[in-house]
Amino acid sequence: MCILLSLDEYQTGHAEIDRQHYFLCELANGIFQAHRKPTAMRLGNMFFRYLNNYFITEENIMRPYNYPGFAMHVEEHKQLMSKLRQVMLCSESGLWVPSDFIDFTRTQLMVHIVETDMKLC
Ligand SMILES: [Fe+2]
Repeated sequence: MCILLSLDEYQTGHAEIDRQHYFLCELANGIFQAHRKPTAMRLGNMFFRYLNNYFITEENIMRPYNYPGFAMHVEEHKQLMSKLRQVMLCSESGLWVPSDFIDFTRTQLMVHIVETDMKLC
């Protein structure tokens, strides 16, 4: 079960972006299914780095085209990374709470991908 929405329905048509969406989904699944905190944290840190790289890739694609709303889009990326950082910091210092991660991926991140990133198509 993918904790992200089926990204097959949300293909952007950009091979690199779609490949990264797929890998983010696979990582999110691994975190959701992790039974031990160390595993969840290791995958969570990978997810954090990969999501950051994904956002950088997206920004690098948009920049040369003077993409409308570029500055606001970049700001959304920063806010999402900040929220994910909070989830990871809370998990490091306390219990691993999968629902915090699931809430971040299923709602905040998916809203960004579906409502904002899809405008790139
Ligand atoms: Fe984006």
